[in-house]
Amino acid sequence: MQKAIVLGALLLLLTLTLTPTTTHAHNITKILAKFPDFSSFNHYLTTTHLAPEINTRQTITVLAIDNAAMASLTSKHLPISTLKNILSLHVLLDYFGAKKLHQITDGSALAATMYQATGSAPGTAGFVNITDLKGGKVGFAATNPASDEGDSDSTPSLNSTFIKSLKEIPYNISVIQISHILSSPTAEAPSPAPEATNITGIMSAHGCKEFADTLTSFPDALEVFTTNTEGGLTVFCPSDDAFKGFLPNFKNLTKEEKNSLLLFHGIPVYNSMALLKTSNGVMNTLATDGKNKFDFTVQNAGQKVTLKTKAVTATITATLLDEDPVAIYTIDKVLKPSEIFKKPEISPAPAPAPEAEAPSKGKRHHKSPPAPPSEDDSADSPADSPADGPNADDSTADDSSDGGERVKKGFWMVGVVSVVGVWSMWI
Ligand SMILES: *[C@@H]1O[C@H](CO)[C@@H](O)[C@H](O)[C@H]1NC(C)=O
Ligand SMILES: *[C@@H]1O[C@H](CO)[C@@H](O)[C@H](O)[C@H]1NC(C)=O
Ligand SMILES: *[C@@H]1O[C@H](CO)[C@@H](O)[C@H](O)[C@H]1NC(C)=O
Ligand SMILES: *[C@@H]1O[C@H](CO)[C@@H](O)[C@H](O)[C@H]1NC(C)=O
Ligand SMILES: *[C@@H]1O[C@H](CO)[C@@H](O)[C@H](O)[C@H]1NC(C)=O
Ligand SMILES: *[C@@H]1O[C@H](CO)[C@@H](O)[C@H](O)[C@H]1NC(C)=O
Repeated sequence: MQKAIVLGALLLLLTLTLTPTTTHAHNITKILAKFPDFSSFNHYLTTTHLAPEINTRQTITVLAIDNAAMASLTSKHLPISTLKNILSLHVLLDYFGAKKLHQITDGSALAATMYQATGSAPGTAGFVNITDLKGGKVGFAATNPASDEGDSDSTPSLNSTFIKSLKEIPYNISVIQISHILSSPTAEAPSPAPEATNITGIMSAHGCKEFADTLTSFPDALEVFTTNTEGGLTVFCPSDDAFKGFLPNFKNLTKEEKNSLLLFHGIPVYNSMALLKTSNGVMNTLATDGKNKFDFTVQNAGQKVTLKTKAVTATITATLLDEDPVAIYTIDKVLKPSEIFKKPEISPAPAPAPEAEAPSKGKRHHKSPPAPPSEDDSADSPADSPADGPNADDSTADDSSDGGERVKKGFWMVGVVSVVGVWSMWI
């Protein structure tokens, strides 16, 4: 009997440990997945990161557009930020089921939208006019701030109409199909400043000046970072101490290697801290190029997130920016790609793997004398090994993808350890 209680408690504990805490009211991705005709709309809700925003709202109406009608939007090849504005105009912050739509008080209403709620919409833009039309039709149109533009087009033409209801959970979420994309010159206007995040400015001002300055002196690499700030970017910038200590090694690299090393500190996807804390595994970087993998392994233990290559294990020490679509974190060591820095040569005995590859100028630094103890950054120096104690497996010839496996095993180990801990408390 007592055993049963203990088991129950353990199961509960495991469930609590393994289930990510979500306060999501709905899952729009899942709802729309049942309708293949809406795959394009669903896809763009995900790529614009609107899906999670919809999921956390309690009372919401999604005006879905089928694949045929989406073509008029996708054919414009708009940037993601503009697509996001347009699609957020299709998310009403109120509940409108089919029944309510046909019974609007006075036949017409204005609904606030997610576009308006995000503050991206100027003035009176960002509302949707819903009007009951002749013959049982319901028309939809985006409002536009007509007066300031001297435009005659102040009364919206309600040429997008209600087709059918896809999913209704009364007063929580309603997903309905409308015939056309709501056209809005305001939402379609190229959005200015917001997405031009000055990543080097942010880094310089927050203890990553050395890295930012170096990046600035490599315009090609900087441009790769900059062009990704719109669609999604995560930057891991080494602290000034770490990068200063690494500069002598950096100077010895070839120009190409320097470029790769800088690009190695960026990921072409936005990763929130919450996401990094829950996603273990291999990550591609901006330096990844076909067979040149240039990847590292993300691992987390509790609140600690580490980035690991065969040559170094760096820890995230601070968050400088975490605002979709850009995140910038400080790390305590320079990330050394395995492609440039072979395994640490601790003993004079020749390591088998590096011998197989033709020596290049970039590897000369291996022959350098041990770095002064203050340079804990230099994984090539013996001084580094004790500091990285728990990562002694760095020297084994495993591939970084095995790292992911180890992470999973590690996770289970933690689970088992806590289980044993609780068990012993009960006995
Ligand atoms: C929503 O559903 C999709 C598809 O079923 C799934 O991949 C995703 O993880 C779900 N999201 C959440 C937050 O549960
Ligand atoms: C919605 O648009 C119609 C047609 O332009 C207009 O007659 C109506 O007054 C508008 N409704 C609201 C609430 O603004
Ligand atoms: C709907 O009306 C607007 C404004 O008059 C127009 O620009 C747009 O092309 C129309 N869309 C359709 C599908 O008729
Ligand atoms: C609607 O949302 C409320 C609050 O989140 C929840 O308590 C209720 O069960 C939901 N209703 C349905 C039908 O899912
Ligand atoms: C970014 O900020 C830095 C420092 O504030 C400034 O020198 C640089 O010109 C800015 N770059 C851009 C593209 O605005
Ligand atoms: C860089 O290269 C020079 C010349 O080959 C060498 O003397 C020096 O020790 C190297 N420095 C480092 C930090 O590897």
